[in-house]
Amino acid sequence: MVRSRFKLTKFASIIILGSMILFLDPQASAQDKIQLSIDTTKPGPKIDRNIFGQFAEHLGYGVYEGLWVGSGSKIPNTRGIRNDVVAALKALKIPNVRWPGGCFADEYHWRKGIGNRAVTLNPNWGGVVEPNTFGTHEFMDFIDQIGSRAYLSINVGSGTPQEAAEWLEYLTTPLPTTLQKERAANGHPAPYQIPMLGIGNESWDCGGNMTSEYYLRQLTIYSRFVRNFNPEQQGNRQMMKIAVGPGGAEARWTEWTDTIMKAWKNRQWSWDMQGLSMHNYTVINWENKFASVGFGEKEYSQILKETLKMEDLITRHTAIMDKYDPEKKIALVVDEWGSWYAPLPGSNPGFLVQQNSIRDAILAALNLNIFARHAERVRGANIAQMINVLQAMIMTDKEKMVLTPTYHVFKMYVPFQDATFIPVTFNASTYTKDDIALPRVDAIAAKDTSGKLWLELTNVDPNNAVEIEVSVMGSNANSATGETLTASKVDSVNTFDAPDVVKPKSISAKAQNGKLTIKLDPKSVSVVSIS
Ligand code: AHR
Repeated sequence: MVRSRFKLTKFASIIILGSMILFLDPQASAQDKIQLSIDTTKPGPKIDRNIFGQFAEHLGYGVYEGLWVGSGSKIPNTRGIRNDVVAALKALKIPNVRWPGGCFADEYHWRKGIGNRAVTLNPNWGGVVEPNTFGTHEFMDFIDQIGSRAYLSINVGSGTPQEAAEWLEYLTTPLPTTLQKERAANGHPAPYQIPMLGIGNESWDCGGNMTSEYYLRQLTIYSRFVRNFNPEQQGNRQMMKIAVGPGGAEARWTEWTDTIMKAWKNRQWSWDMQGLSMHNYTVINWENKFASVGFGEKEYSQILKETLKMEDLITRHTAIMDKYDPEKKIALVVDEWGSWYAPLPGSNPGFLVQQNSIRDAILAALNLNIFARHAERVRGANIAQMINVLQAMIMTDKEKMVLTPTYHVFKMYVPFQDATFIPVTFNASTYTKDDIALPRVDAIAAKDTSGKLWLELTNVDPNNAVEIEVSVMGSNANSATGETLTASKVDSVNTFDAPDVVKPKSISAKAQNGKLTIKLDPKSVSVVSIS
């Protein structure tokens, strides 16, 4: 549990963030030192590394050009997959990659992407030709090259249970069936591992516009027949089947979660699921989206206010899930999240190309912290999307590649993968811009698998640095060392010509009288280890 100390005034307003209560005190000055206490005597749940998952859809330059260039390309590659992109992604220790969609998944027919390829269309995203040169084997090769694992989305919208069941047999059986022999002839005699399987995508919308009851019928059928035959993935190592879940705060999604969870509770032996997905993008106006570049402090604060709604959404759907699953057997998997801005001028609007600024780095940190505070229930998340699409880690232009501020945040958070949540108590203070009031500071702490203590600190305030005085209960705190990410302007970005505008730099602090004083730059994300 995270608690917060505060100076309560008659003006103080309260917001609730996960298990943390923040008291926003407008009388606290930006210059006040913030006291933060870490209590290592009360360890919490494991922060599942799967919350740092990625999403790679056949959309714009996300797959083609972004990661797949083909073996004949002048861009250095291994079996068609870009070496520069693989090296950059490896450093993120990505736990899983969700593929092939998104909306694309419900129109994807896997057979067109093995052996002799069929050239098809991608009507969802720009109406372009889909060459299917990047198919099942190329995806499995890609995740192997970056050291990750597969999260496949199967086609429920326009496919059949038979098609999906055969895909899984093709991928996972060790026995000499016709499909296994075909897989071997295509270069992979050994069965693949598929740890995560999404049964449809946004079935309430692009995935087939289904009602919750109609989807439930599909779910029970697919869950019954789509089997993983890999001997390594039986018993308690079984593949997670993830049902389509809610897509926002409206009442129809409350009903959706209730319908699926109630049915799960009363299920027959013949079907099951281990996860429920949730999608939530940070977007203020779908018809007139905010720009990803050239914005000011007003838009900075509006977007960060919007992104904090993730907290309420998770709390709300967790409460419904708790009703039917108090033991938290079913994971909530936020398998699409991130900022969604207007397409960059001159880009194909169907390709969802946007820039990525320090605002996105802070947005990413705030969301990752929300997931960590809900670690008992939120055991998976996939930021949308990995390369060249929406809130990307990497942007490419032919042979050029640039790492975004969001990439750096994901790299800084690697120590939190599978770490044990440790409660922190602090007075967040308040940052205000016009009528918007936000917690000035956010923080999480965790102990990694080797026992090392890590602290993440976000300073949301774009104008003022803040000093954090850290004390640690239950262990010694002599020094802190780590990295911080900041930028000169709220809309600072990295470009192909200036790739290091937003780049982490080192920070450190030494303890005095048992306390560490860490100074956070304005609009910054910092991760330090404490020893
Ligand atoms: O990430 C882009 C799209 O957003 C996905 O294809 C879809 O699932 C969601 O609506």
